[in-house]
Amino acid sequence: FGRPYHFYPVVSSTNDVAKELARQGAPEGALVVAEEQTGGRGRLGRAWHSPPGGLWFSLVLRPPVSPAATQSLPVLLSLAVTDGVAAFPLPSVEVKWPNDIVYQGKKVGGILVELGAEAEAVHFVVAGIGLNVNITSFPAPLEKTATSLQKIAGEALSRPQLLSAILAAAERYYSCWCREGFAPFREDYERRLCLLGREVEICCGGSVARGTVAGVDAEGRLVLVSPDGTKRRFVGGEVTFKQK
Ligand code: BTN
Repeated sequence: FGRPYHFYPVVSSTNDVAKELARQGAPEGALVVAEEQTGGRGRLGRAWHSPPGGLWFSLVLRPPVSPAATQSLPVLLSLAVTDGVAAFPLPSVEVKWPNDIVYQGKKVGGILVELGAEAEAVHFVVAGIGLNVNITSFPAPLEKTATSLQKIAGEALSRPQLLSAILAAAERYYSCWCREGFAPFREDYERRLCLLGREVEICCGGSVARGTVAGVDAEGRLVLVSPDGTKRRFVGGEVTFKQK
């Protein structure tokens, strides 16, 4: 991953640039990196704070799978990101299903996967990854919910080194995922999942479900055990910890 490599000092959103390159035929592995995004986007139509100092990038992928099978990609990639971070002497960060990287409950990064698909064919996937790396302060509304690797480590980190560690893990995981799906990653993912055994609420398509997180299944879906003991699986949604 990382060839060809496109760097921009400022861009609206690396996902938008990567989508345009993908439409023009960019190959799998093409990478768009920006120092700053003025219109960074998160999941569920949210804005993504992307000042200089972070790691904001998007990869073009062309997986030989159905659109439905791409649902486990953000889950897979969040695992690759924690692997990349683990190459540094830092306390370990965790994953929060489906697409967050967290440290002590605060968000450190996130993944936004967007599809170029028609009917049953995936033409391309753009996987956007955002990591708060060398960011020392956040706007007031984010200060309580976000943190950065620099704040965790107490010093700045080399972003080129971090990027290459993440790309190496992502490429390795992705090529296995194309052949075997998410199943080989299930246990590893659960070990790094901050939700395991916790009581949560999941908001999915307008309805709210409550239960205890039992883990993820072979498709990367979150498995929740309801108070009446029934198991339910979720392909996406917003998870919050239930207050006792
Ligand atoms: C989320 O947690 O909701 C996903 C955040 C994804 C942010 C990254 S930064 C690089 C890429 N470009 C964007 O506009 N978004 C993603």
